[in-house]
Amino acid sequence: MSFTQKHLLGIEGLAQSAILEILDKAEKYADLNLKTHKRVDVLAGLTQINMFFENSTRTQASFELAGKRLGADVMNMQLQGSSIKKGETLVDTALTLNAMRPDLLVVRHPHSGAVDLLAQKVNCSVINAGDGQHEHPTQALLDALTIRRAKGRLHRLNIAICGDIAHSRVARSNLLLLGKMENRIRLIGPPTLMPSQISEFGVEVYHDMLAGLKDVDVVMMLRLQKERMDGGFIPSEREYFQRYGLDFKKLSHAKDDAIVMHPGPMNRGVEIDGDIADDVTRSVIQEQVEMGVAVRMAIMELLSKNYSTKHKKLLS
Ligand code: NCD
Repeated sequence: MSFTQKHLLGIEGLAQSAILEILDKAEKYADLNLKTHKRVDVLAGLTQINMFFENSTRTQASFELAGKRLGADVMNMQLQGSSIKKGETLVDTALTLNAMRPDLLVVRHPHSGAVDLLAQKVNCSVINAGDGQHEHPTQALLDALTIRRAKGRLHRLNIAICGDIAHSRVARSNLLLLGKMENRIRLIGPPTLMPSQISEFGVEVYHDMLAGLKDVDVVMMLRLQKERMDGGFIPSEREYFQRYGLDFKKLSHAKDDAIVMHPGPMNRGVEIDGDIADDVTRSVIQEQVEMGVAVRMAIMELLSKNYSTKHKKLLS
């Protein structure tokens, strides 16, 4: 076993072998998810709490389904309002939930580092479902599985990540994962949306889409993270689409069999032409959603094994 961690907080600490173990296990769940009867009892008797301090539709639904298909008791908590408004701190909320003895917490939070902090305060396993601009490890893993299934491999590919790199936890986790797998990564976007320490990543940076997309195997588009901008990053959405939105003309510079990805939610006509998003010969966006459930099931199974071994050691 390569994946021996109690938590999944980021891609940063994961070895290549652990990533492959998760993806291989997820393949098994991708097959299960095609069957009529999708339920197994891998997490039977365990309690999973999804704590979302930031809006989410697909990620929360995906974690909820994954837990239910594995037989866990799943509870969803929307925490944007309620106790947060009453002034309770993140740590107090965590300690309250910890006292209810969950086995797994899935946490999304608008601040980078908040999920790591929470993991230090609780006894159970914690999965980072996205913390600020920092990491979104399950998204990078589901993207990796989607790429591997479409391209037949996960190494030596030319991959372009395009758009709002600066504010994107998806870009950061993908850079880390795809880099560990020895791919050639290009970042494409306006200078205002590139992180300041970009030279540390050892990637090629382009501000021109046509040059950046030349001969790539994978085109990964990102959403403009307007909620993390305080104005002035792009001239107008119309101009942004003209220069950085993916349309068929720009896509024609990539390889003929290049795939198109987007983590969702998409702004059609801003980051991506709606017709490309719906073109099943190029777009793997629905496959990404499908692989999301499988990857999350795999991670939860692996974490539950690590958690129960540690738990047994504590009790003996
Ligand atoms: C991503 C996120 O929340 O970081 N979406 C997701 O997980 N489905 C990307 C985004 O919101 O742009």
